[in-house]
Amino acid sequence: MGHIELRDLQDDDLDAVFEMLRDPGAVAMAAFTRADTTNRDSFDEWIAARRRAPEVSLHVVTERGGFAGIAGAFTVDGDREVTCWIARNAWGRGVGTEALRLLLSREPTRPLFARVAAHNTAAIAVLGKNGFTELSRGDAYAPGLGRDVEEVVYALLPVLE
Ligand SMILES: CC(C)(COP(=O)(O)OP(=O)(O)OC[C@H]1O[C@@H](n2cnc3c(N)ncnc32)[C@H](O)[C@@H]1OP(=O)(O)O)[C@@H](O)C(=O)NCCC(=O)NCCS
Repeated sequence: MGHIELRDLQDDDLDAVFEMLRDPGAVAMAAFTRADTTNRDSFDEWIAARRRAPEVSLHVVTERGGFAGIAGAFTVDGDREVTCWIARNAWGRGVGTEALRLLLSREPTRPLFARVAAHNTAAIAVLGKNGFTELSRGDAYAPGLGRDVEEVVYALLPVLE
């Protein structure tokens, strides 16, 4: 899988990231997104805040050098969480699985956490293939769908010596 890489996010990537994050089918999968993914001004503010935040690490996923998605890590209440979003034209070829594997090698904190909608079978498969196991589940408001959705918390635990 050497043709999939992570690199720093650049200004030139923002149009592709905006288009990817407003894909209605992908928003329905992810569910826990911003409420209005179609507004460019709010996207620009949202991503600028993340690029400024020292505890956020945000990478572009490339497939054979071309834009294929984003992968990142951030801290919430002291817990380190990871997330990944792959552009629809790159789905189903292992890009998400490999992007998360690359992200995990850059994020040494364990446990690492991830939150996904219970209906997001593909994201759950990507987490499982990278060693995450289910920790808990419960309903939470999902802005992308405008209603409560079952959310599952996954954890990548420390390897026991
Ligand atoms: C979830 C996502 C990251 C998966 O990326 P991907 O590159 O398509 O995933 P992979 O190709 O690595 O596939 C991983 C596994 O998921 C399975 N899978 C892929 N798409 C699937 C789908 N639509 N439904 C069910 N399973 C699916 C694959 O079969 C594979 O399992 P296998 O190797 O055992 O067959 C991608 O669909 C995505 O970004 N979706 C929109 C945003 C999102 O939901 N992000 C994650 C939560 S924030």
